[in-house]
Amino acid sequence: MARAKIALIGSGQIGGTLALLAGIKELGDIVLFDIADGVPQGKALDIAEAAPVEGFDASLSGASSYAAIQDADVVIVTAGVPRKPGMSRDDLLGINLQVMEQVGAGLKKYAPNAFVICITNPLDAMVWALQKFSGLPANKVVGMAGVLDSARFRYFLAEEFKVSVEDVTAFVLGGHGDTMVPLTRYSTVAGIPLTDLVKLGWIEKDRLEEIVQRTRDGGAEVVNLLKTGSAFYAPAASAIVMAESYLKDKKRVLPAAALLDGQYGIKGRYIGVPIVIGANGVERIIEIELNKSEQAMLDKSVASVEGLVEACVKIAPALG
Ligand code: APR
Repeated sequence: MARAKIALIGSGQIGGTLALLAGIKELGDIVLFDIADGVPQGKALDIAEAAPVEGFDASLSGASSYAAIQDADVVIVTAGVPRKPGMSRDDLLGINLQVMEQVGAGLKKYAPNAFVICITNPLDAMVWALQKFSGLPANKVVGMAGVLDSARFRYFLAEEFKVSVEDVTAFVLGGHGDTMVPLTRYSTVAGIPLTDLVKLGWIEKDRLEEIVQRTRDGGAEVVNLLKTGSAFYAPAASAIVMAESYLKDKKRVLPAAALLDGQYGIKGRYIGVPIVIGANGVERIIEIELNKSEQAMLDKSVASVEGLVEACVKIAPALG
């Protein structure tokens, strides 16, 4: 069987890491695309030269023309600008919306059957705009945020409890980052909910709240350390898990931004929810009942995404 084709739109920090991980995991042949001439070509060559050492077979190429993404099975979008210290993800909206328009047109023309994972921030608004600009079906366009937010939460909890990251699960809902809604009663250590671990004396409630807040601010913490850009290793790893679930029809249950059609009382907006990703893209959106405080947090998150979507429509009225 021919190898799958993975196109990476944007070959910056995340794009390069995506290419390396997709290569090492032998997910398919990889095309890196970027407007910065030479960068996708250089990164493709550099990673191809790592292949004999790492022992993977994949064709890697770089391109500055959308024709190169023709018939891609998976497209991962990181094109745009990342934030610098002092910037919020929302500050990126104006520039990155224009980029989504270009990427959407490229997808429509060359890769209408692809499973598309958007990473560009502000995530929930950019993936919404990308789906509209591209005209691709909603089950084939998702946003990567929840896997990253929950990975950060899992890492902090594993450190706190001194247990393996593998035995910590986390359930998050809502928009990316600042308004993320962690559901502590559905986040566990080996199946034991965090709410029970508080009762068992593993952790104080206030300490858990601090960890939740650190998770919400997880992106900014990395930005403030790097100073020149934003996180890229964990975001890339998170998107690769989603691509792998699609390509291998693994049907992983992963938190991701999906277009809601009434679930959680939300319609026509991308919000982070648990979904099943398989060969048909988004195969299921998992809806649970929320308690009052969870609902209040989700409402706040949805309101902030709504504000971003309205800002997009102001800039590009055709999206409305
Ligand atoms: N078309 C294609 N590529 C573009 C375009 C465009 N119109 N505009 C910018 N790019 C490219 C840049 O040339 C750059 O190589 O997108 C790449 C972005 O890479 P980085 O600046 O290294 O940013 P990165 O850290 O990879 O983050 C990308 O993901 O997490 C989000 O907030 C982050 O929105 C940002 C995106």
